[in-house]
Amino acid sequence: MKFFLDSAKVDEIRYARDMWNIDGVTSNPRHVRNSGKPFLVAIRDIAKEFEGMDRPISVEVNPHHTTAEAMVEEGLKLAPMSPNFVIKIPATEQGFKALWLLNQKGVRVNLTLAFSAVQALQAARLGAAFVSPFIGWKEANGEEVSHMVAEIVRIYQNYDYKTEIIVAAVRNGRQIVEAAVAGAHIVTAGLDVYKDAFDHPYTAKGLKLFTDNWDATPYE
Ligand code: E4P
Repeated sequence: MKFFLDSAKVDEIRYARDMWNIDGVTSNPRHVRNSGKPFLVAIRDIAKEFEGMDRPISVEVNPHHTTAEAMVEEGLKLAPMSPNFVIKIPATEQGFKALWLLNQKGVRVNLTLAFSAVQALQAARLGAAFVSPFIGWKEANGEEVSHMVAEIVRIYQNYDYKTEIIVAAVRNGRQIVEAAVAGAHIVTAGLDVYKDAFDHPYTAKGLKLFTDNWDATPYE
């Protein structure tokens, strides 16, 4: 199971890399805006943090693009900037075509804004390196999500697709566990989600109990 950080902030990325050995980064236009930097500066700065390391960094094409050709053109511009870059393309009709064309040119694609198993199936058919089902948005919309990730895992196993599933928009540790139980390859979440997930109040409570007892016991 791999953990990606969902962020474009270099301080967060360094923290996740150096504290948790994070396996990759996913960014999107909202994250880039929150970094406070121009798009190209932000993604180049992320790339510098992983020079010489085999860690995928997803960078998203301009969401205004409405044609596959425009997405492909931008993907072909971004991909050579770093060997880590994976081009994020939305799961629209034109996006699927762009994925197919970029795949033929050897560019790795992360098919993003995926909300159904059939979108994930089509992504795999067309050669996506990654697919990102957004479970948090679906749950917030009152949709049942527990079966979708398991279905995608099963479909990929049935046809031996190599596309890696990035369970995205993850909000808590329970969702990380559910993604792992379902057999997803990767989760991507924000820094605070991981911090909260790796913490447990009983750990602190137990440590306090043990230190109190340690202090009341001679060492020799
Ligand atoms: C994933 O690749 C997306 O960047 C991300 O999960 C979007 O969702 P969020 O920003 O609402 O978490």
